[in-house]
Formats: sequence, structure tokens, C-alpha cells
Amino acid sequence: MSIAAVWATPFSQEKAQQLADSLQLPLHSEKSAAVDFYLYYTSNGLTLIGTHLNLGPLHLDFNQGALSQRLEKASIRNEALARAVGLHKKRDAHICDATAGIGREGCLLAALGAQITLVERSPIMVALLKDALERCEAPWREGVHLVAADSVDFLNTTLAEFDVIYLDPMFEVHSHKAQVKKEMQYLQALMGPQEDGDALFRVALSRNPWRIVVKRPLKAPSLLAQKPDFCLKLKTYRFDVYVLP
Ligand SMILES: C[S@@+](CC[C@H](N)C(=O)[O-])C[C@H]1O[C@@H](n2cnc3c(N)ncnc32)[C@H](O)[C@@H]1O
Repeated sequence: MSIAAVWATPFSQEKAQQLADSLQLPLHSEKSAAVDFYLYYTSNGLTLIGTHLNLGPLHLDFNQGALSQRLEKASIRNEALARAVGLHKKRDAHICDATAGIGREGCLLAALGAQITLVERSPIMVALLKDALERCEAPWREGVHLVAADSVDFLNTTLAEFDVIYLDPMFEVHSHKAQVKKEMQYLQALMGPQEDGDALFRVALSRNPWRIVVKRPLKAPSLLAQKPDFCLKLKTYRFDVYVLP
């Protein structure tokens, strides 16, 4: 079990205190090796550092850098996920991204015209996402709604209607095969293996949306052993697409 704290840098004492209070994490004025992860503010916003990870800090930015460039250049034709969720048929679909993570894929769909509800259960990921969305200047930001919750509970109780439910439950990526992105390494280190894919798929089915899309490793079985209507295969993973009656 990883230990996290908020680091009160001289740059931002007050905000750090508020964050520590809201996440119920200890506030440290100096970094300690006994803590696995620190959240701290810089002039660019909230940042996460893994004390024992040789990865450099994790900072989400939708305004500049590689992610924002990808979002700017994205098109429905070139993004397999956009075709999997059916944006070529319903451009302004309301999509629940039930495993939001760092919001990369959810925001990509928003940038392509979808209305997105991002649901994430890790309070640390939610804090990073919330901060990045508050700083986000892109017009698609309007179409993004962030919910801090477990998606099984959320989908069981929400009155919202979704055209599409997207699931990307955490799966192990083998680093010798593919260069695993820093963000994914952070997610894996922070959350460890998670096995709620079937539970998420079950609750998604109960909502009877137009489509359910599940990201899976290429050779992994489908969730609940349920054959998808079609698959879109990429190099290291695939999208299983269920088109519901
Ligand atoms: C592989 S990551 C998703 C990455 C995401 N697709 C992206 O583009 O950033 C899986 C995320 O789903 C979250 N998650 C897993 N099960 C969940 C659940 N039942 N409810 C909410 N979030 C969940 C994990 O905390 C993790 O952040």
C-alpha cells in the first residue's frame, strides 16, 4: 500500500494546506523517503512525484506539450477510439468515461465534439485532473464534467443518460515490449493491479447505452467472456465494441 502526502513548497503553503485537508493527507514541509508519493504545487499547477520512481514528476497540461498537440491534431478518422465509440455517427454523443485516469482519452473525445463525464475513484488522480481542467483554456473544456466516485456506484445511481460507456480498466503493460508511457507507469505504481473490469462491464450493461467500448490487451479475454460486436485492433491493445439493441 503506497503512502502519499502533500508537500508544502515555499511556493504555495496555503493551497497545499487546503489540498491536504480535502484529501485528508499529511502535510510535509520537507520530502521524506518514507513517503511514496508527494503532491505539490508549482507555478504551473499541481504536480505528483513518486519518491522511489525514476520517472520525473507527473504534471497534466491540456494547454501545451505533447498531449495538447495530440488533441489539436486529432480527427475522428485517425483516432481508433473515436471510431470505436461511434463519433462518426453521433458527433456530440454523451459519453461516460468510467475509468478516467489522467483523462487523456476522455479529453481526446471531448476535443472531437463529445460531451464527456469523466469518473475516477483515485482521489490523487481526481486532484491532478481537476487542477489541469481548471487551467485548461481549450474550447472543448466546456464539454467535460469530472466526477470523483467509484463508477460501479456512480452508474448504479446516476440519473444521467449516456450514449456510450467507455471502460479502460488497468491492465499490466510489459515494458520490454512497448515503451510504457510515464503516465501509465504512475497509474500502475499508484493503484497497482485492479480487477474490477467485469463489475464495471456488468453495471455498464445494466445501463443499456447505445454502445459500450472496452480497451483490452490484444490477447486478453473479453470482459465477462462476452463476444463484442466488433473489435478495432491496434499494436498492443484493442477496443471491444458492444452495440446494444
Ligand atoms: C488504465 S487507467 C485509465 C487511463 C485513461 N483511459 C486515460 O486515458 O488516462 C484506469 C483508471 O481507472 C480508474 N478506475 C478503475 N476502476 C475504477 C472504478 N471502478 N471507478 C472509477 N475509476 C476506476 C483507476 O483509478 C485508473 O485511474
